[in-house]
Amino acid sequence: MRNSSPTQEATKSLSRLSNIKGHMEGNNPTVFHADIVPQAPEDPLFGLMAAYRKDDFEKKVDLGIGAYRDNNAKPWVLPVVKKADEILRRDPNLNHEYLPIAGLPDFTNAAQKLILGADSPARQEQRAVSIQTISGTGAVHLGALFLSRFYPRPTSQPVYFSSPTWANHNQVFSNVHLPIKTYPYFSPSTKGLDFTGMLSTIESAPEGSIILLHACAHNPTGVDPTRDQWKQIAKVIRARNHFPFFDCAYQGFASGDLENDAWAIRYFVSQGFELCIAQSFAKNFGLYGERAGAFHFVTGSGPDAQNTIARISSQLAILQRSEISNPPAYGARIASTVLNDPILFAEWEENLRTMAGRIIDMRKALRAKLEELNGKEGSWKHITDQIGMFSFTGLTEKQVLKIREEFHVYMTKNGRISMAGLNTGNVEYVAKGMDKVVKETE
Ligand code: LMR
Repeated sequence: MRNSSPTQEATKSLSRLSNIKGHMEGNNPTVFHADIVPQAPEDPLFGLMAAYRKDDFEKKVDLGIGAYRDNNAKPWVLPVVKKADEILRRDPNLNHEYLPIAGLPDFTNAAQKLILGADSPARQEQRAVSIQTISGTGAVHLGALFLSRFYPRPTSQPVYFSSPTWANHNQVFSNVHLPIKTYPYFSPSTKGLDFTGMLSTIESAPEGSIILLHACAHNPTGVDPTRDQWKQIAKVIRARNHFPFFDCAYQGFASGDLENDAWAIRYFVSQGFELCIAQSFAKNFGLYGERAGAFHFVTGSGPDAQNTIARISSQLAILQRSEISNPPAYGARIASTVLNDPILFAEWEENLRTMAGRIIDMRKALRAKLEELNGKEGSWKHITDQIGMFSFTGLTEKQVLKIREEFHVYMTKNGRISMAGLNTGNVEYVAKGMDKVVKETE
């Protein structure tokens, strides 16, 4: 409604009225005509997954959705998750009662500790609140909804995303009517970070803008700022009074180390920023379908901080109650069982190293094969420079469609590949496909 002129609105209302009239006269079975509910396009990522499943070619390869696969291209239930599952199933006190609105306290507390660090000043000063959400997407949504209601800024002022970013960010923020702009992030020429572009756009954004940042393992590019660059980003955000919103879907996946991967967030907190964080446990626990995640809000230090956080917490609870009432229990119970037990926690870290390590091996193998095929040393260096679940290969949309058609290798149109879809059995095949489509379209 916000984008329509008064005349367009009047026409729409008339059309609605005549639809309703037609419906009531019995010559029309719906009031939801195509001009009111147009056919929406299929979600590109889930559409890709469906197309892959339908493909019966034996050597097909799925490099689409960001979900970990083992060396046999199979989903991997983390051994530590199996143990936690067993513990839960044997618990005679387990029931299916509702969780509190804010979720399982043991889970949200452990999730907060994991992201902020046990000795975080925000935890010590009790100026952080954590709410269990429907995984990372739910956390991004809850944050966006909260900001759309309460962030004191002109309604026309946009939220800034990296270009590119995870496609769903656009939908989630648009759904709560927050206007969106982007800051440069990926440089197609270096296939690395466009740091100058990023910094200057954030610097020239209207004062007090919301800046969405990927905490680690940037999706879709696999390109992260260095620590020194993060410090400079923080400096500009501080100077412009912007509000940082961190999305953290890959803690433990970028470096294989949970502390390292939380560094940027912890640095911002140590600098006294008021900020929020969306945290997902889909990837690092392999709990994709269980939708375990958390939203954290950290307010700045000060005598009134605990009151501020209590007010914010009360409003978050109202939003949560009206949308999902209370979050689902199972995934949070699994994660909580692991996060709160030092032995299981150590085993989880080992499982994380297994996943991150296999991905690093695949990066090396893919790069080596590609450079062997084109004879140009260093030409695919970005594959090993990038980190986390994804690599932004630099393949064009045309090349992506060609490799899918000729080799049955599935990746998103922007040339992103999920490294976890590669394994020792298919990496050479994929490299040959990539090499061929690149050479043919050069
Ligand atoms: C991805 O980007 O592949 C994942 O984050 C899955 C999703 O929900 O988009």
